[in-house]
Amino acid sequence: IHVLLICGGGGSEHDVSLRTADFIQRELAKSPTVQLTRVTMDGDGRFVDENDQVRELRSDKLLYSASGGNSGSAQPVDYVIPAIHGYPGETGDLQSQLEILGLPYFGCGPEASKVCFNKITTKLWLTALGIDNTPYQFLCADNADEAAKAQDALKQWGSVFVKASNQGSSVGCYKVSDPEALDGALREAFKLSPYVLVEKCLKVRELEVAAYLYDGELVVTPPGEVCAPEDTFYSYEEKYAEASRARTHVVAEGLSDAQLGWIREASKRAFVGLQLKDLSRIDFFLTDDGEIYLNEVNTFPGMTSISMFPKMLQNQGHDFSSYLGALIHSAVS
Ligand code: ADP
Ligand code: DAL
Ligand code: MG
Repeated sequence: IHVLLICGGGGSEHDVSLRTADFIQRELAKSPTVQLTRVTMDGDGRFVDENDQVRELRSDKLLYSASGGNSGSAQPVDYVIPAIHGYPGETGDLQSQLEILGLPYFGCGPEASKVCFNKITTKLWLTALGIDNTPYQFLCADNADEAAKAQDALKQWGSVFVKASNQGSSVGCYKVSDPEALDGALREAFKLSPYVLVEKCLKVRELEVAAYLYDGELVVTPPGEVCAPEDTFYSYEEKYAEASRARTHVVAEGLSDAQLGWIREASKRAFVGLQLKDLSRIDFFLTDDGEIYLNEVNTFPGMTSISMFPKMLQNQGHDFSSYLGALIHSAVS
């Protein structure tokens, strides 16, 4: 089976995607029936292979050498793994192209990807599905009185998270408690997106579940936990820098049966309601008062050394290479 692994992409999570692709490549190397080709999408949207050659995926499902060549020298593609966090993978754009080409691929479809990558549409859908999510204000760059709206939110909530609507890995997320710092954070967030959220900052435990299809059944793992240092939050640096002080626990301790049940039901409802496919990591906040909010749905979760999705699968007794191998085989057979 010829599998095309696409990583990189034009967004701020390009480098994180390369690390995720390294993991997937290592895992698929265990599968004797898979012949893997890896390409990295560069900032211009070109696919560059491991020999630095530009490649093109065309409608005949063949991967050509962009320098010319005929179908004789092109490679067939049976299945695609769009391992891109953010644009244009997790945003669903690449998946739309794959749908048009009629190529099966790993992960969620275009619409679910688009809805879940955007922090505002995620909230609208979660609310429509009856799933609690963090209180927020919606700001649009075109409106005149947004700075005042943000100041009101800060006054009401004491501290807030300012978030660009269209990023991941904590890019464009700023924790603000000082009213004088608010304008700066808004400016930075609006540089990344015309839409910004100002969210109530909660004192929280951060819980994450892996929700995925295994043998056609939806599996929701018990929540794991990520613990950022007290003086910061789970920022890009705490996620990926070597000096990160963040800690992860594959299984969170001390949760009541009611809390576990709530998280499980909300995860199932989100997976089914948002029409997710194959995999997701669903992240929750548990407040000191015992309230639980669904923070976000990651349709292509990170698979770096700190990332929880592969660890939670493994803890469930599900080996990643067998899991992905089975999905590939059933999609192409
Ligand atoms: P991303 O999609 O970039 O991961 P998140 O919404 O998950 O963005 O926010 C990144 C991190 O910021 C979270 O993991 C958490 O540490 C912190 N955070 C975000 N929103 C809140 C909030 N409302 N209250 C407390 N911490 C938050
Ligand atoms: N967006 C990153 C990769 C994650 O949530 O895992
Ligand atoms: Mg997050």
